[in-house]
Amino acid sequence: MKMIIAIIKPERFEFVKKALEDKGVVGMTVTEVKGRGAQKGISLEYRGGKMIVDLLPKVKLEIVIHDNETDDVIATLTGAARTGKIGDGKIFVLPVEKSIRIRTGDVES
Ligand SMILES: Nc1ncnc2c1ncn2[C@@H]1O[C@H](COP(=O)(O)OP(=O)(O)OP(=O)(O)O)[C@@H](O)[C@H]1O
Ligand SMILES: [Mg+2]
Repeated sequence: MKMIIAIIKPERFEFVKKALEDKGVVGMTVTEVKGRGAQKGISLEYRGGKMIVDLLPKVKLEIVIHDNETDDVIATLTGAARTGKIGDGKIFVLPVEKSIRIRTGDVES
């Protein structure tokens, strides 16, 4: 199995969630986070000055899937989250050893 960690723009979240659901990907953990990428945040110009906001609000999704779903989930996520502008986000793929459903003890690996 793999864990997909996707950091996306908050305004794309509902669309991403729907796109994943349409592909049968339902289980996920979602956290509101702050982060920065290559641009080290953004520089806001206002009357009389400039302000650097270095950590921007993002949404983090953690999704554990079977290995053979990985490419499809990444394609769906990327397609739904992309606006084409900077800050669209990043996806990280991690190996997962196993999961255990607490209610039943079901083990998946
Ligand atoms: N190397 C990294 N490690 C951990 N988190 C990261 C890393 N790079 C980006 N992130 C997370 O992803 C979010 C979005 O990053 P972002 O889309 O700005 O990446 P980028 O590489 O700067 O691409 P772009 O040029 O499209 O903006 C960041 O706010 C941060 O939460
Ligand atoms: Mg960036």
